[in-house]
Amino acid sequence: MIKIKNLVKKYPVVNPNKSLKQRVKETLKLEKKSLLTALDDVSFDVKKGEIFGVLGPNGAGKTTLLKVLAGFLLPERGTVSVNGFDIIRERHEVRTSCNFLRAGGWVIFDYKFKISTMLKYWGVFLGLPLSEAEERINYTLEKVGLLDKKDDYVENLSYGMRQKLNLARCLMTHRPVYLMDEPTTNIDPYSADFIRRFIQTELRREGATTVLATHNLWEAEQVCDRVAILMGGKILTIGTPDDIIRKYALDTAVIQIKPITDDIRKKIKALGFVGNVVPESDLVMVYGKDLPKNIHKILEVCYESKTKITYLDIKKPSLNEVFIQLMRDKNEQ
Ligand SMILES: Nc1ncnc2c1ncn2[C@@H]1O[C@H](COP(=O)(O)OP(=O)(O)OP(=O)(O)O)[C@@H](O)[C@H]1O
Ligand SMILES: [Mg+2]
Repeated sequence: MIKIKNLVKKYPVVNPNKSLKQRVKETLKLEKKSLLTALDDVSFDVKKGEIFGVLGPNGAGKTTLLKVLAGFLLPERGTVSVNGFDIIRERHEVRTSCNFLRAGGWVIFDYKFKISTMLKYWGVFLGLPLSEAEERINYTLEKVGLLDKKDDYVENLSYGMRQKLNLARCLMTHRPVYLMDEPTTNIDPYSADFIRRFIQTELRREGATTVLATHNLWEAEQVCDRVAILMGGKILTIGTPDDIIRKYALDTAVIQIKPITDDIRKKIKALGFVGNVVPESDLVMVYGKDLPKNIHKILEVCYESKTKITYLDIKKPSLNEVFIQLMRDKNEQ
């Protein structure tokens, strides 16, 4: 559904201390040194119907990537196709294949409009006949839980309600690709949960392909089939949340073994899947790969050594922990 190959996107860097004349000259010249590379050789595909997460620290290039996919920005290099259309040669088709939910509760059209009027105009603006646009208003407002606000003015909506209105706006037309830039940022937990369920159920039912930029890694783990972690415009890693967690982090088993001896600790550490064994008061922390699957081997060591396990808990690392570790490692390099 989406194919991205060697995508490079650069922005001109304008020095605010220079005069306007100099800045215009610099921007037009687009010298190499005055360009900032926001996306650097990015390649990946998104399958039809997939919910694909784009993660990364501030300035990583997430919004830029979504804007390129939506046909709003042209890349300097690389090829990108969305819904089978090339973003340069078939830009109009790309734009009409995508619904773009922008970050920040951004609402297009006049704040003085009633919500129903705004949606009607938006529908017509997107090419719906007036009667169809009017028909879809109730449907979309109901889907996002804003039907009771139909006759309110946009300017009276809270931030979260505006974000839901943006979702309703996206639903006015049937488009196969949803590009969502931080749809749950600054949204209350209940409404954020609503939006996540909406993506997981409604958009999946529609068979839509969703690219979701988010800072909420728990959300990414819950909602996304696969994620890409971007940093400095480059892809650090890509895969299912589970694969990424398994690739970069070890599970932790907290075990109470009675009596615990150095010999048992050594035997546990010698098991192929164990990375480290750290004693902590009367417990041992065992760090290892796939512990839920391998834990019986630790139990066997204890059994053979005639000791008892009185407490056992296995913790899977979260995508959040892996992300923080990856960022730390990168920043220390
Ligand atoms: N219009 C622009 N002109 C110049 N530079 C820009 C422009 N938009 C973004 N950038 C730069 O491109 C880089 C990527 O920005 P982008 O907005 O894509 O990051 P992001 O991952 O969405 O960050 P955030 O998490 O803060 O939303 C940043 O260094 C940013 O300063
Ligand atoms: Mg952004």
